[in-house]
Amino acid sequence: MRNPYLPYPVRIDKITTETVDRNLKTFRFVFLNPEDEEKFAYTPGQFAELSIPGKGEIPIGIASSPTEKGFVAFTVNKVGLVSSYLHNMQEGEVMGIRGPLGNWYPWDEMEGQNVIIVGGGFAFTTLRSSIIYMLDPQNRPKFKDIIVVYGARNPGMLLYRDELAAWEQRDDIHMHITVDGTDDPDWKYNVGFVPAITEKKITSAEDAIAIVCGPPIMIKFTQPVLEKLGFPPEKIILSLEMRMKCGIGICGRCNIGDQYVCKDGPVFSLAKLKKMPPEY
Ligand SMILES: Cc1cc2nc3c(=O)[nH]c(=O)nc-3n(C[C@H](O)[C@H](O)[C@H](O)COP(=O)(O)OP(=O)(O)OC[C@H]3O[C@@H](n4cnc5c(N)ncnc54)[C@H](O)[C@@H]3O)c2cc1C
Ligand code: FES
Repeated sequence: MRNPYLPYPVRIDKITTETVDRNLKTFRFVFLNPEDEEKFAYTPGQFAELSIPGKGEIPIGIASSPTEKGFVAFTVNKVGLVSSYLHNMQEGEVMGIRGPLGNWYPWDEMEGQNVIIVGGGFAFTTLRSSIIYMLDPQNRPKFKDIIVVYGARNPGMLLYRDELAAWEQRDDIHMHITVDGTDDPDWKYNVGFVPAITEKKITSAEDAIAIVCGPPIMIKFTQPVLEKLGFPPEKIILSLEMRMKCGIGICGRCNIGDQYVCKDGPVFSLAKLKKMPPEY
């Protein structure tokens, strides 16, 4: 059996600065050994440990979709030791990826349903993975309407701006992009907080499942909006970002009650979270 602590060696293939404050960058990695790409078979919603020798590891959601071949991508916010070191690395440098880790969005349950995606700020990463996955021609017929509400503080803080603009033009996905505020006279999308735009744009919970990822304050105010619309707690899906170390259910760093967020999560239904101690 493969040692679960051993990362796959990868090369940084492409770095994209996503936001105007330059604190969010997307790193595209290519596996040094092509057969490792197959071993790193993942499902949207999962995460991996990005491993920098001599510096440490950070758990980061997988932002690429398994339908995108030849690379795996992560969008990283520069907050502390390891993420700042990564932000200073260059294309061509070699590091490691350990995973894929954790569970994923409930794809079996989502088939045949309207899928409502509600995202805020840089927590949009695994939601991007999910959108690309669902829009793949092989997968698109499996889902009914795909409706996305995505917001950031201002236009310059939105991730994946080219892709958002391209999705806006399609008729097989309904986009509701919003910002908290802007002084850009050319801004053509919504202005308002994510929960308020969700309340305005989502009109039915019928045959629908909602995936919500964002800062705690956004989740706190979006939850009652969805419940008022009639979403039962088992059809509201959230992804948690606890502090982690091993990522594989061994060190006991990330538990909430008897649940390990790294192994039993990071994806939980609201119904399941309501049964857990309120530590998240
Ligand atoms: C499942 C999962 C998915 C994640 N996905 C992403 C992602 O897609 N993109 C991304 O940028 N980040 C993501 N994170 C958060 C990321 O792991 C942390 O920001 C990172 O570990 C910080 O490491 P550091 O060494 O740079 O900072 P440190 O030097 O360790 O800490 C710097 C500051 O960040 C805080 N911090 C560190 N880790 C976390 C955390 N998990 N939650 C909240 N605050 C934290 C510390 O308390 C401290 O204030 C995810 C976390 C988890 C558990
Ligand atoms: S991070 Fe070690 S048990 Fe979850």
